[in-house]
This record gives sequence, structure tokens and C-alpha cells, in this order.
Amino acid sequence: MSNASAPSSAGTPARHYIGLMSGTSMDGVDGVLATFAPQPEVLAHVHLPFPAPLRDALFALQSPGDNEIDREALAAQALVVVYADCCTALLQETALQAADIVAIGVHGQTIRHRPERGYTRQLNDPSRLAELTGIDVVADFRSRDLAAGGQGAPLVPAFHADVFGAPGQTRVICNIGGISNLSILRGKDEVHGFDCGPGNALLDAWAERTLGRPYDEGGRLAAAGTVDETLLKQLLDEPFFSASPPKSTGRDLFNTAWLDGKLQAWRDAGIGDAVDKAEHAADIQATLTALTARTIAEEIAIHAPGCDAVYVCGGGAHNETLMRALRTALREKAPSVAHVVSTQALGMDVEHVEALAFAWLAARFGQRAPGNLPAVTGARGLRVLGALYPR
Ligand SMILES: Nc1ncnc2c1ncn2[C@@H]1O[C@H](COP(=O)(O)OP(=O)(O)O)[C@@H](O)[C@H]1O
Ligand SMILES: [Mg+2]
Repeated sequence: MSNASAPSSAGTPARHYIGLMSGTSMDGVDGVLATFAPQPEVLAHVHLPFPAPLRDALFALQSPGDNEIDREALAAQALVVVYADCCTALLQETALQAADIVAIGVHGQTIRHRPERGYTRQLNDPSRLAELTGIDVVADFRSRDLAAGGQGAPLVPAFHADVFGAPGQTRVICNIGGISNLSILRGKDEVHGFDCGPGNALLDAWAERTLGRPYDEGGRLAAAGTVDETLLKQLLDEPFFSASPPKSTGRDLFNTAWLDGKLQAWRDAGIGDAVDKAEHAADIQATLTALTARTIAEEIAIHAPGCDAVYVCGGGAHNETLMRALRTALREKAPSVAHVVSTQALGMDVEHVEALAFAWLAARFGQRAPGNLPAVTGARGLRVLGALYPR
């Protein structure tokens, strides 16, 4: 990176990185400030929620609408103000300065993910972020993999393998963000990974609609309901679930329109108007929770036979009902799995993992080392991911 050998505030070469991740849950940004020496060490973590108008603008950009170019540019400007505030908070917490940071690795906010059409779009304004922070910015990590014929996603498995792979063990790292994705690690070197389907996205949509809250705290609403197997069958009737990897998905598919279509089919199948009644709110949440848990367990059973342990990260790890449902589903479908725990058991906070992955990808870019895994994304080969926006 341009300032890699420039003196830091302490007169020594800069060696810290910032990683910024704002995922499909659209709850806000997670930032970490970390070093790699070479094992990662997180010195600080900051989560900043999106202000309501920005969140509304980002949701509106998830589907086609009027005047998208203008709305996209303005939303990107507002987004990087939150990113920059996150960087400032990270520097304050660690008493470091901009000159101590080699680079910021920033994912951006996905507004379209259409690998079948050869593109993905992460809303971002990395030039403005470099201007606001005075730090080199590495952004646009996905498009090179797509250009090489890949899905552009998931990009975290290489990082997961580097930090969580263990010789002689088959481990699955399961990130439950808005969408859930798996990294299957056989030892440290054999790595597979793909998106499973909805993680929290539908749970959040239903919590918003029935509780007026952004998510179902601890999975309490789901815990009060009973899984409706007829509805679950409707929800599982989606080709994505049985498609073979490489595969990736997003809100382009698993959104409220998809959910409403499924609920309508369920209603048409004889439940009548009762779907909208309050007593069904908990049953529907319980069923959406089962959908997330069972689709994850099913993929682990198929693609990670003999798996020893599943480590969950992302906000879904805080949903106790979902974790319980995942344990139950895995007991049934993948009995070799002895442990279903959070990545905390491996010494890493569930909020840190994905943001740290983008700090790691920025460091890889700095070395001009590849960040993708062709076995995961389906790309023609290893590629250096990202583009540099110098400070
Ligand atoms: N205490 C909690 N109880 C239930 N769900 C939670 C809790 N905390 C976070 N979550 C879930 O995690 C989501 C955020 O997860 P995150 O890993 O940030 O996803 P993304 O990377 O898609 O933004 C929230 O939208 C919510 O669904
Ligand atoms: Mg998030």
C-alpha cells in the first residue's frame, strides 16, 4: 500500500488494518482494528447502527425503482460518513492515528447480487472514505472474481481456513448474517464454501412487521410459537436450496416479496385469513427459524460428512431459539457433529469475524496475494481482489 513503509505516529512502519463490514441484515456497520503478525489480533471493535433515513434508502435500493443512480450516489455518500465515523471511533478506542493504519478494507453495502448475470453491486464511495479518513482504502472485492467467471461470493472461506482450520479436523464455520453461508474446512488446506439461504433476513422482516422491532431479541417470539410443517414445506420449495455449489444469494431472492408469496400459497392451501392473526405471528417466526436451521443442517449433512464441530458467527449466534433449532436439526441430519457453539469457543467474538475478514483481504491485496478460492466461487483461478483508493 502507498503508506506501508511510511512512518506511523510512533515512527515505526504502519502495521494495523481496519476492516468494515455491513451485511445483508442492514443493521449497520461492524468495524475492527486489527494486526496480522501473522495471526490476527483484534484491538478494537465498533458497531454503528445506520441512521433510519439511510437504512430506509438502502432498503429502497434493494429493488428496482425510479431515479436509482441519483439515490444510489447520495446513499453511498451517507454510508461512508457512517464508515468514517466507525474508523474515527476505532482510532479513538486504540489511541492510534490514521498514519498507523496501512489500509481500510471495506466491503460496501450490497444492493444487487446477480452472479447469473455476471455482476454484483456494493454501494460504496471509497474515494470519499479515503478523503474523510486520510487512510488508504481497498474496496470492490467481489467484481474481479465475477470477471473470472466466479460467483464473487462467499469471500470469507479463505480467511476462515487461515484462522480456524485445524489439522485432522473437519470444521464448519457458519456465518448467520442476513444470509447464511458455510465454510467447510478439512484441515487447513481443503476448503469449500457457499451460501445456504436466508439467515436472519426473513426473521428480521417478520419481527419488523409483527413486533415493530428490527429483530426478534433472543428469538423470543419464535420460542413462543410452533413450527408449521405445511408452511415449512412451502418455504423449502425453492430451487436454490437443492442447487449444488458454487452458489450464492442475497436479498434479490430472499426478500419480503418472496416471503409474502410463500405465505399466500400457505393461505391458499387452507389456512384462510388466520395467517394474519396475532396468534400466528409466533408460529410463523418459529417456522422461519426452522427454515434457517434446517437448510444449514441439510447442507452440512450433504457437503461436510464426518464434520466434527460447527462454529457459528454473525448476529444469528445471539438468537438462542435459532441456535437451539440448529442443534436439533444437526442432531437429526448430521450426527457426527459433536459441538455446535459460537466462534467464541475459538477465541473470536461473533461480531468480529466478518469485519476482520475484510481487514485480512485488504492485507492480502497489499501483498498482491489472491483472496478468492476457485473451489468456493467457481472462478477460473486465484485472483487478487480489490482496488486501491490511496489516501
Ligand atoms: N440479541 C439478538 N437476538 C436475536 N437476533 C440478533 C441479536 N443480535 C443480533 N441479531 C441478529 O443478527 C443480525 C445482524 O447480524 P450481522 O452478523 O450483523 O449480519 P449482516 O452481516 O448481514 O449485517 C440482526 O439483524 C439480527 O437478526
Ligand atoms: Mg450487520
